Amino acid sequence: MNKNSPKTIHLKDYTPPSHVIDRVGLDVTFHAEETAVSAHLAVRPNPDSPASEGPLELDGESLRLVRIAVDGKELAKGDYSTTDQKLTIHHPPARPFTLDISTLCSPKANTELSGLYLSNGIYCTQCEAEGFRRITYFLDRPDVLARFRVRIEAEKSEAPVLLANGNLIDSGDIAGTGRHFAVWEDPFPKPCYLFAMVGGNLAFVEDSFTTMSGRKIALRIYVEPGKEDRCGWAMESIKKSMAWDEQAFGREYDLDIFMIVAVSMFNMGAMENKGLNVFNDKYVLALPDSATDTDYSNIEAIIAHEYFHNWTGNRITCRDWFQLCLKEGLTVFRDQEFSSDVRSRAVKRIQDVRTLRAQQFPEDAGPLAHPVRPSSYIEINNFYTATVYEKGAEVVRMMKTLLGESVFRKAMDLYFTRYDGQAATIEDFVQCMSDASGRNLSQFFRWYEQAGTPELSVKSQWDKRSKTYVLKLTQRVPTTPGQPDKQPQHIPVAVGLVGPNGHDMALELDGEELLHESILELKAKSQTFRFKNIGSRPVPSINRGFSAPVKVTSDLTQKDLLFLMAHDSDPFNRWEAGQIIGKRLILDTMTKIKARRPVAEPKAYAAALSETLADRQADAQFKALMLNLPTEQDVASDIARNVDPQLIHNGRERLKQRIGRLMHSRLMQRWNATKITGPYSPDPASAGKRALRHASLALLAAADAKEGARLAMRHFRDARNMSDEIGALGVLIQLEEPERDEALQQYLDRHEDDHLLVDKWFALQAQMPTPEAAERVRSLMKHPRFNWQSPNRIRSLIGTFATFNSVGFNAPDGAGYRLLADVVLRLDKSNPQVAARLAASFRSYKALEGKRRRHAANALKSILEAPGLSRDTYEIVSRSLQ
Ligand code: PHE
Ligand code: ZN
Repeated sequence: MNKNSPKTIHLKDYTPPSHVIDRVGLDVTFHAEETAVSAHLAVRPNPDSPASEGPLELDGESLRLVRIAVDGKELAKGDYSTTDQKLTIHHPPARPFTLDISTLCSPKANTELSGLYLSNGIYCTQCEAEGFRRITYFLDRPDVLARFRVRIEAEKSEAPVLLANGNLIDSGDIAGTGRHFAVWEDPFPKPCYLFAMVGGNLAFVEDSFTTMSGRKIALRIYVEPGKEDRCGWAMESIKKSMAWDEQAFGREYDLDIFMIVAVSMFNMGAMENKGLNVFNDKYVLALPDSATDTDYSNIEAIIAHEYFHNWTGNRITCRDWFQLCLKEGLTVFRDQEFSSDVRSRAVKRIQDVRTLRAQQFPEDAGPLAHPVRPSSYIEINNFYTATVYEKGAEVVRMMKTLLGESVFRKAMDLYFTRYDGQAATIEDFVQCMSDASGRNLSQFFRWYEQAGTPELSVKSQWDKRSKTYVLKLTQRVPTTPGQPDKQPQHIPVAVGLVGPNGHDMALELDGEELLHESILELKAKSQTFRFKNIGSRPVPSINRGFSAPVKVTSDLTQKDLLFLMAHDSDPFNRWEAGQIIGKRLILDTMTKIKARRPVAEPKAYAAALSETLADRQADAQFKALMLNLPTEQDVASDIARNVDPQLIHNGRERLKQRIGRLMHSRLMQRWNATKITGPYSPDPASAGKRALRHASLALLAAADAKEGARLAMRHFRDARNMSDEIGALGVLIQLEEPERDEALQQYLDRHEDDHLLVDKWFALQAQMPTPEAAERVRSLMKHPRFNWQSPNRIRSLIGTFATFNSVGFNAPDGAGYRLLADVVLRLDKSNPQVAARLAASFRSYKALEGKRRRHAANALKSILEAPGLSRDTYEIVSRSLQ
């Protein structure tokens, strides 16, 4: 195939498969260079396909064909043909038949980490999206559901543990050899992307969970020997997830055993293979001295996410890859709800919106923008995006808001009964929402089809004489690549009117009915809502709880916002009011810096933050979030054109400095008073206290670098857990003080044997906010601990640099962009998936000021011109340049 003119696949071209595969028997003999796979397939023509009489085209990649037989009879050379992507059987029987295919593949040569590969000596597989075709020839598409049975054979010394999906039905030694085997059978039909097998020298920890119907499920977590003591938190997380899915959605686990395997080489976070989840070990392993509070909460959330896929993804899967958000958006929504229930709902909502704004908004605003359900792709791996995942979750959340809690639950029940065991579409899912509620969701469906973040502007007016309050909402959906004309969307806007006493007023709409929980439904381009009996001027609280993933501009004054910060009953909007003020102040500071004019003291804002700190009702994590100013990315998203990242950074730092000075004594007191003594616990309350200390420390350091470095060094020395160590280093890394390198060295000396902690060491250094950062990153790429085979290590250093070091990556001379281009080209040869993801870090370059924009475009062009580019990278780079 000519990879420089790859084929685009369109949703509108979907056709059912020509054949059905009901059963798969695999016979696998593990060998590092030549693993033998014999597939025994029960195939029949698909009655629902017009192509069922035609040839059978199987997908295959990097395979060596050894033998092929139909109904036991070996095929002659002319009966089939192969390319590097396909195996075609020209005239398959027009009735059910068996197909035997023997192939060889090389796990050792598999640097892409897709298909069967070796992770630090452990055989493991990754089949989503299209990795199964690298194990055997198959109809590698999610709407082909088969029952799998696998026999794995291996040297006992090399792979004493052999695992696959489902239940172990046989195992034993092979007499007279050092070999053994295991046979696994999965009773549930599944698409091949959920297939998994693992072999290696693994230890496990075991526990059990008794389901709501009284079945006892064995739970096992497999890790490299010696790491068993780091599995406790992950195990607790599995049990919490299982209980939650029963209680929140009535969903019970369906096999007798649930297994997780932790591996160190993995392209993504984790994978929901039926009964045998494979995890990036950074989302499994945790002890107080090796994992931060954020690691603990990530582990809990990702374990939950993969577990929840058992129903949303596995029992009901996707018809085709365009429907990816059917499983991902819904499962992210479910894991968010889980975390909200086991932690603080308000905090979780704020964190999720921060993630959405940091990752999805920029994607939606740039050349890589695409709908939650894309309509075309070149390489599906490029669509595991924040839009599909995070915005996809927001869309499900909005339907829940529109339907209300109990109707939404009924709609979910309907979805589970109607589509269990099937491969479904977004239309099917939304139809369930609509059938259960009686609501017409056809306009709502545009959320799946139109890319771009809708912009909502709000005008308000209070008429004293008639006691009416008028809100005029206007929406605009911006133009995105391939979508010049946008239609208005159906937007649920949660509102409150806060009276002068700080309490919510009773809402009574003139003419229309207000939806439960004070939701305004905006459907037209512009709509006016009139509230009756409003006796005094309220302050409107708009889009409470971030009810819709939109950008809001309002005519609220600083005074209004300070009032909301102090009084809004909706905690999300209390935080949001602070963010809006913060953003306005940063923008103002930038203007003043540019004009060389003095910057006013942010007294009112600092006073409001101090009040929040003193608030006895609010929890510590919420306070820490209040203390975090809007990110540089948030400010860049607002500016949208001619962005100068260095100026944003300077403006934000200057504001931090002023706030830090104004709040100095309070912050000092926080930092001193909230120190936790006693053993570490990852619970949200303790984690919140630590986060608040770190936020206080960061502001103190912004106010006075020397004092900050001294305090942070003390914080680092006193640390009794990884959260405090990393918290201190995170502050030090921002400062050009001698303590920084001293602490980094001590950290490395202490932790160099723990690869997850070495990853953090690389990530910290990638964040130094100077235009020379690219140089430091380049020299770290030559560090003996850097490893081009490890996606985690690459992401730690280079991914962190490109996404979290705006000043360094966007150095005005283009050095950051050139560094990224070099890395992408090098990596494209060994791991195109990870290369393409890194290449997507250019996603916002079009919004930059001219000089930087041209440097970035040149770097992108230099990638595109390289010969032999992968489809993955080609697609990202060519779309970026369009
Ligand atoms: N399906 C995985 C998840 O979101 C992500 C993944 C995609 C992992 C592709 C590996 C490969 O849970
Ligand atoms: Zn997922």
